[in-house]
Amino acid sequence: MTARIAILISGRGSNMVALADAVQAGGIPNAEVAVVISDQPDAKGLQIARELGIKTLTIERRGRKREEHDREIVSALQDERVDLICLAGYMRVLSPFFVDAFNERILNIHPSLLPAFPGLEPQRQALDHGAHESGCTVHVVDNTLDGGPIIAQRTVPVVPGDTVESLSARILEQEHLLYPAAVAAVLDTLKRKQDG
Ligand code: GRF
Repeated sequence: MTARIAILISGRGSNMVALADAVQAGGIPNAEVAVVISDQPDAKGLQIARELGIKTLTIERRGRKREEHDREIVSALQDERVDLICLAGYMRVLSPFFVDAFNERILNIHPSLLPAFPGLEPQRQALDHGAHESGCTVHVVDNTLDGGPIIAQRTVPVVPGDTVESLSARILEQEHLLYPAAVAAVLDTLKRKQDG
């Protein structure tokens, strides 16, 4: 059976593209990107997803309470019969309602070596703390902020003279490798569970 993946974005969408490319190239076997959903109508990634021939939906965040917004997203995800949800630069914390609706089937990528530097601007946090290395983490989303079980990580060095931009770029390169590999591993595990 083909696993149906939804990708949630708020902006640039480069991790979304890495996932879509990996699906296309067979790096994430037996899977398809069913839908890309953005909470921001002007997210650059939306246009890119359309150009890749992927169905897109905008479910606007503006002016709406978290759970009300999430209920609409959950309903769209259920309509699409998705098996796995990948947050990829999605900038709104999920409500417990959302997390419970897709328990253990929501992944996120975060640009630090969690549990170090959760929350906003993790690359700046790494520099401010004088960390000698940082990296990226794919984890299961639960009701904590960037605190769910870790699936996979990649490490990069912090080098003298690094800026937020240079460190972010070095980490992002690794994100694009890590996320597809982690998604492939998670889908493989889900399939083995289903096959009993
Ligand atoms: C990435 O650094 C990701 O780890 C973080 O937000 C950024 C999104 O970048 N959660 P993009 O939209 O995937 O290019």
